[in-house]
Amino acid sequence: MPRSDGIFDVAVIGAGAAGMMTAAVAGQRGLRVVLIDHAERLAEKIRISGGGRCNFTNLGTSPAQFLSRNPDFCRSALRAYGPRDFLDLLRTHGVSWHEKHRGQLFCDDSSESIIDVLRRECEAGGVAWRMPCAVRSVAREDGGFMLATESGTIRAAQLVLATGGMAIPQLGATDFSLRVARQFGLKIVEPRPALVPLTFDAQAWQPFAALSGVALEVRLSHEASSPQERTKRHRGPARTEFFEDLLFTHRGLSGPGILQISSYWQPGDPIHIDLAPGQAVADILIAAKSGGRQTLLTALSGIWPRRLAEAWLSEDSGRRLADIPDRQLRALGDRIRDWTLWPTGTAGYKKAEVMSGGVDTGELDQRSLQAHRCPGLYVIGEAVDVTGWLGGYNFQWAWASGVACGRALVRL
Ligand code: FDA
Repeated sequence: MPRSDGIFDVAVIGAGAAGMMTAAVAGQRGLRVVLIDHAERLAEKIRISGGGRCNFTNLGTSPAQFLSRNPDFCRSALRAYGPRDFLDLLRTHGVSWHEKHRGQLFCDDSSESIIDVLRRECEAGGVAWRMPCAVRSVAREDGGFMLATESGTIRAAQLVLATGGMAIPQLGATDFSLRVARQFGLKIVEPRPALVPLTFDAQAWQPFAALSGVALEVRLSHEASSPQERTKRHRGPARTEFFEDLLFTHRGLSGPGILQISSYWQPGDPIHIDLAPGQAVADILIAAKSGGRQTLLTALSGIWPRRLAEAWLSEDSGRRLADIPDRQLRALGDRIRDWTLWPTGTAGYKKAEVMSGGVDTGELDQRSLQAHRCPGLYVIGEAVDVTGWLGGYNFQWAWASGVACGRALVRL
């Protein structure tokens, strides 16, 4: 039976991946926990993730796959609770999984099984639920916190902000954690959409719009514009590279490769795409010259999807290879191996998988996620300036930060 008497050791706001994990861990340690969420349905982002199968972790998780002003911040939580620990939890609940691609683990069945695991773990910890329940205000009171909510006043000695990021507002995502963090004087790293499609000037994109739906494997790279810019945003490597699929859309580019590079991209930056990685395009075309009457289009279609070759060559499509000087084929090969593009924007939070930025890691203790300047206040999950690559890393951060916080909370 939930112990819900309106006064708790801990109030957790946000019953998503990180919030449920913290509530369960703290509840099972004997703390009186209330978990509050404004949504009608539980953990919608887990439900829709990984195409309904939830890519719940990545076996190769390390701090190298996270962006943050302090990329080392996540190290302690990830070391204390890694992918194997989450697999142990799934095993105890009889949930089976499979590896799909480069360490990415998905449920065999459906993402509902992950939600069920967390719900049952919360039950085992006697967690009290307030859902759906909007929180109107948060105030400090007698060293603890007083929350004015739709379901009345809740008092708790400690408060955990776990409302995630702003991606997919249509699912009820908000900036609640950032607003409350600001209220208590915590610094915020400017939030922005990440793991998001990139868009281009409509006119400049017009020749490629017809390619919507074409996908191919490419190598993408991005270079941070200046050392100052790098330090301001994240202290990752100057050059970032991904070898992943690219997808053409009506408005621009998407697919896993673009989502990955989008987290590093800033307005004004170019991105570089090698559209035929590992292929000596110019040498292949020059060698094909001896093949009689072959056109440039036919030769390039041997390397690429034909629709892409047609759009790329336009009026040159019908030219016979034998009539084209080697120097022009070399220039064509160079353009294909380094297609430099200047995106004009992103598809925004509506299409993003995550928010990057968030509560500045300098404000938080990396072992407990407690705010230095506001004892008793904790921030976990996506609301913190820790953003993972695509591939299960964001859930692993949610589990790890949730467990770190759940273990650090105290009974008062
Ligand atoms: P999360 O978003 O899980 O939970 C926040 C909770 O807070 C929600 O329940 C919300 O209703 C609640 N809330 C928000 N505002 C509130 C307010 N004002 N008052 C009360 N409650 C409020 N990651 C990954 O590793 N593998 C994957 O396969 C995917 N796939 C994926 C697909 C799509 C479409 C999206 C949008 C995202 C992913 N992600 C992902 C990212 C992953 O879903 C995300 O990083 C985690 O869910 C973050 O966990 P949190 O607990 O921090 O927030």
